[in-house]
Amino acid sequence: MAHIVVTGGAGFIGSHCCVELLKKGEQVTVLDNFCNSSPEALDAIEKITGVRPALAELDLCDEEKVNAFFAANTVDAVVHFAGLKAVGESCRMPLAYYHNNLTGTLNLLRAMAANGCKTIVFSSSATVYGMHNNAPFTEDMPTSATNPYGWTKQMIEQMLMDTVAADAAWSVVALRYFNPIGAHPSGLIGENPNGIPNNLVPYVARVAEGTLERLSVYGDDYDTPDGTGVRDYIHVVDLAKGHLCALDYAAAHKGFEAINLGTGNGASVMDVLHAYEQACGKTLPYVIAPRRPGDIATSFAAPQKAKELLHWEAQSDLLTMCRDSWNYMCRRQQNG
Ligand code: WQD
Repeated sequence: MAHIVVTGGAGFIGSHCCVELLKKGEQVTVLDNFCNSSPEALDAIEKITGVRPALAELDLCDEEKVNAFFAANTVDAVVHFAGLKAVGESCRMPLAYYHNNLTGTLNLLRAMAANGCKTIVFSSSATVYGMHNNAPFTEDMPTSATNPYGWTKQMIEQMLMDTVAADAAWSVVALRYFNPIGAHPSGLIGENPNGIPNNLVPYVARVAEGTLERLSVYGDDYDTPDGTGVRDYIHVVDLAKGHLCALDYAAAHKGFEAINLGTGNGASVMDVLHAYEQACGKTLPYVIAPRRPGDIATSFAAPQKAKELLHWEAQSDLLTMCRDSWNYMCRRQQNG
């Protein structure tokens, strides 16, 4: 049994990762400040797996507490999800994003190094492919960003590459997520952002449950099959399982690897809307709205490297993702 620390482990993707780690029999400690999640996630993780992860409630920006945690605990590896992640908000609050995401990560890496823990799987994002690459995106493409959130992901990847270059004892895998959606089949954990969702599927889910009136489709004049934006949607459970494969790879390999986690398939906004209609059994209202600044037309992964290095590939199709999302929304409404 390894002791894995999951920063942001009470969040959407982090909680699904904890479930898979506990199912595998690992010892898990969630390190979270609950700024964008709830301790209830730990109740749900325990209900699903029968095991409650340990909790270290702290902010990664609190250097003293981060150091104290790693000095007091033997940690085999870290899966690092904790960070602010709203693209639009990052444009409004760049300094908060750079402080939270970069300072937090620096404190984490320094505390790990000082206590002999040099294995990390980092939650990166396809957003680092920026505006100048053409899909399918491969890991060797140049990275950039179009917003402070994306720059923090790119900068953290750079920090990690430089750390590995200076100390060959480190094992680092930066997983570049495409568009994680869906929920655990139990319906006990899923995506439930605070306020009005920025992202497509949680917004569509709120339209389906009737708490939002209709979907605004941000542009139907892109150079795509139906004119709406194309993305690579991946089931959050497939994504979580990819992290366990990345931990196995990191345990056996030193150095830095950036690896895409995506299906390799693109789906348009209208494809998603229609799949969600099929999942919930309702017609979902929408209106065509102007393009959203910063959006690209098409984004989807080249998934070969994950298959070759991690022996991982996504399993679930878009309808399954929408069905699991809708099941979670229904369970949430039933439980109040
Ligand atoms: C998907 C498509 C929109 C909302 C971002 C981040 C990425 C990751 C996921 C954190 C686009 C369209 C959306 C709506 C719409 N975040 N859309 N109406 O922008 O691909 O990725 O979120 O890790 O890093 O960049 O995801 O779900 O916001 O948009 O028409 O109300 O849906 O234009 O084509 P995106 P998204």
